[in-house]
Amino acid sequence: MKIKLQQNVKFPTSAQLDKSTQVIVALPEPVKDSHWRQLPYGDVLRQRLQQGKGKETKTRLVTDLPNRQGTKVSLGIIKSDADVFELLDESRKLVQPLLQANPTEISIVLAGFKEGPGERLVESLLAALLAATAELPNYKSKPSTKTRLSRINLFGLKTGHGFERTFAAAEGNALVRSLSMRPPNMLTPRKYVSEARKLAKANKWQLKFHSVADLKKRKAGAFLAVVQASPEDDAGILRLRYTPAKKSSKRPVYLVGKGICYDTGGVNLKPQRAMFGMHEDMQGSALALGTLLALSRLKVDYPVEAWLALAMNHIGPKAYKPNDVITAADGTTIEIVHTDAEGRMVLADTLFMASSDKPRLIIDYATLTGSCVQAIGTNYCGVFSNRLAWYPQLIEAGRASGERVWPFPMDGDYDQAIESKIADVRQCAMEGGVDHILAARFLQRFVKHDTPWVHMDLSAMNRKGGLAHIPTDTIGFGVRFSLNLLLDQKVI
Ligand code: BES
Ligand code: ZN
Ligand code: ZN
Repeated sequence: MKIKLQQNVKFPTSAQLDKSTQVIVALPEPVKDSHWRQLPYGDVLRQRLQQGKGKETKTRLVTDLPNRQGTKVSLGIIKSDADVFELLDESRKLVQPLLQANPTEISIVLAGFKEGPGERLVESLLAALLAATAELPNYKSKPSTKTRLSRINLFGLKTGHGFERTFAAAEGNALVRSLSMRPPNMLTPRKYVSEARKLAKANKWQLKFHSVADLKKRKAGAFLAVVQASPEDDAGILRLRYTPAKKSSKRPVYLVGKGICYDTGGVNLKPQRAMFGMHEDMQGSALALGTLLALSRLKVDYPVEAWLALAMNHIGPKAYKPNDVITAADGTTIEIVHTDAEGRMVLADTLFMASSDKPRLIIDYATLTGSCVQAIGTNYCGVFSNRLAWYPQLIEAGRASGERVWPFPMDGDYDQAIESKIADVRQCAMEGGVDHILAARFLQRFVKHDTPWVHMDLSAMNRKGGLAHIPTDTIGFGVRFSLNLLLDQKVI
């Protein structure tokens, strides 16, 4: 449901506050007397904040106002040097206590902020509210009676815009999370395609599906190796294209995503702990879709196409196996080492096909390697590119969006680890270590015509307790980052 945002330059009157049931109050550090005095109930709030013990309670307070309906206030003192990630993180904590009551309306009151910092804070509070109230899959047999947030009243700030990018990114993120959280029996490649068809219709996207039969004609052996154990021929590459209303001569941006709807590991079967959660191995494809949705909401003036590599990594008598040698669509022969390295296989052919169109830029998203998680944890995602000069902009897109990324090296000598005696290349090395780098080097071979390319290894796809503004374990990381990269960083 669309949430209405109303902006007011003025502070609320006591009467207005008395009418609200849930209020977020934010003040900048150091708080001046005048800031407290501007606020209705300022004295009460100040006194209660100072009564709190310890540092935590001196910068945050949850309390009920002494009025008839006991207006619930979540108050925060915001550090002046907080970066976007910290603002998002703080916003999640401020928003959380108010949502237990399932309010339909929430007020935000800012006192004492300059325009820039005030706007940044509101942006992150909005992001946190939208993230926390997103509709996500729930299969409990007892239906939930939750009401939905439908209105946010902002006091103390009025901007000339409606935070369109924040809303678009939140919608994209909600799509990523809701697809990723679907159990694997509820989101097979076939069901995924039918969901995407609905989205395509609603958003006037063109849709094209490269089925297994079509991929056979194209000799896409890398993709087909992964799906040969699937009992159903429902895998394929799904393309969805947004075209701007006004005719554009700009070449399209392609968003490629790994869409493994379940990763058992294949013949090299994953152990129980590592397998649990592998229905989220399609999060890269959902991120391509979520970013496409956000970009089309923002009506960018160039075409954007999502390429979703949809498949299951099954185990069975027909499954591909270590020591197989397969031929990819571009003719590269690949010596299979480990069937659990399936992501790079389906992406190899997808990247080859996508780059054959010579788009302006390809970004691929993939929950590709455990070693990226080992390297940087689940706080950041790893990024790679065949344009080394973009590394500062990639870091900045992460910093400025609050979805932080860190780049890794892409030097050619890493390829020694994936040399094969029998084929052109090995799928992965026998011993791990820097598999995230080797996987990126492997993928780069299939990006043709020197197409500008960014690869994101989604190590921050799932994190216990959430990350930044996101309160669920499934993070849906990447829409904010991608919007910043495409709209602010001037890489294209
Ligand atoms: N989907 C996994 C990687 C993954 C695991 C991403 C956990 C995020 C969280 C991928 O297909 C995989 O299994 N990779 C193997 C590669 C190895 C066999 C070379 C891995 O990382 O163990
Ligand atoms: Zn795998
Ligand atoms: Zn995988």
